[in-house]
Amino acid sequence: MNKKVIVTGGAGYIGSHTVIELIHAGFEPIIIDDFRNSKPWIIDRIQEVSDAKVLFYEVDCQDKDAVETVFKAHPDAAGVIHFAAYKAVGESVDKPIAYYQNNVGSLCVILELMETYKIQHFVFSSSCTVYGEPKSPIVDELTPIQKATSPYGDTKITCEKITEFEQASKGTLKAILLRYFNPIGAHESAKLGELPQGIPNNLVPYITQTAKGIRKELTVFGSDYNTIDGTNVRDYIHVVDLAKAHVAALNYAINKSGSFCEPFNLGTGKGTSVLEIIQTFETVNNLKLNYKIGPRRAGDVEQIYANANKANKVLNWTCQYGIAEALEHAWNWEKTLN
Ligand code: UFG
Repeated sequence: MNKKVIVTGGAGYIGSHTVIELIHAGFEPIIIDDFRNSKPWIIDRIQEVSDAKVLFYEVDCQDKDAVETVFKAHPDAAGVIHFAAYKAVGESVDKPIAYYQNNVGSLCVILELMETYKIQHFVFSSSCTVYGEPKSPIVDELTPIQKATSPYGDTKITCEKITEFEQASKGTLKAILLRYFNPIGAHESAKLGELPQGIPNNLVPYITQTAKGIRKELTVFGSDYNTIDGTNVRDYIHVVDLAKAHVAALNYAINKSGSFCEPFNLGTGKGTSVLEIIQTFETVNNLKLNYKIGPRRAGDVEQIYANANKANKVLNWTCQYGIAEALEHAWNWEKTLN
């Protein structure tokens, strides 16, 4: 099997860490990214961390002709890992069309080209958002998908459906849908991490920017939930563990016969509250965070965490890091940024 893998969004947060793990595992990643949510120097960092030269194309995934030039140059690629997408829940409510165009449009371009070039192996970035507000906080892959509460969530459900229908219709795809819980942290080297644009929406970048003095204080969105301390519970997974799961998923797809489209939850299996995240961040990094309790944020699920037994067993993958390391690495990365 050829070791080339096309990675869309390979300069992004999860994409860049996955490219590193693909190289470690002997794959040859080919990055497609247009830097709308990254920076060109991330490519240099990937090369520095991996000590390898990485092929890269500055291309918008919605532009089929441009993406096709990449497929034409690498028709022998073993597979595609498709990260490129918009990911901010709140922004998606303001810009629904942009979200459908980009997230659904890009997926259609990729799947069409995979069919044309007879590339079978596909790994898609989905989200635990597909489970909505679940009846029980711990969800496995059989937990029903619920009606989305944001255009972002709906693009993930739609993309999963399109992939399933495409697989059923053509019978050639070997597709894996990876449902991420909450990715946090950064590379241990502090050379790669998240680059939020403007004011961060997510908890951990908001925490690190507050600790650095870029933000005045963190607001905890609600303390009256029915959880251990009243704040929301999530399953925070180190981005490097998440990245490694992509390599495991790709290898699983390559080694499995037949055509399929299978979902996998990627989480630690452990729920952590917002206050526990803050306390752990303060302890591991030996600092005090300026925060206050505020009102609930609209649309937040009370608590959700993964039953990741399927990924543990079938992909032979487990998380190596806990939240303490993730929060230490996130802070080490933040300190390197200007
Ligand atoms: N939070 C705060 N203050 C902040 C930011 C977040 O208290 O300034 C809280 C939120 O209320 C939530 C927790 O921190 O309880 C985590 O919030 P994030 O925004 O980091 O993550 P979410 O769980 O809301 O969203 C994540 C992904 C989405 C995905 C969703 C599915 O970012 O892509 O999980 O549940 F859709």
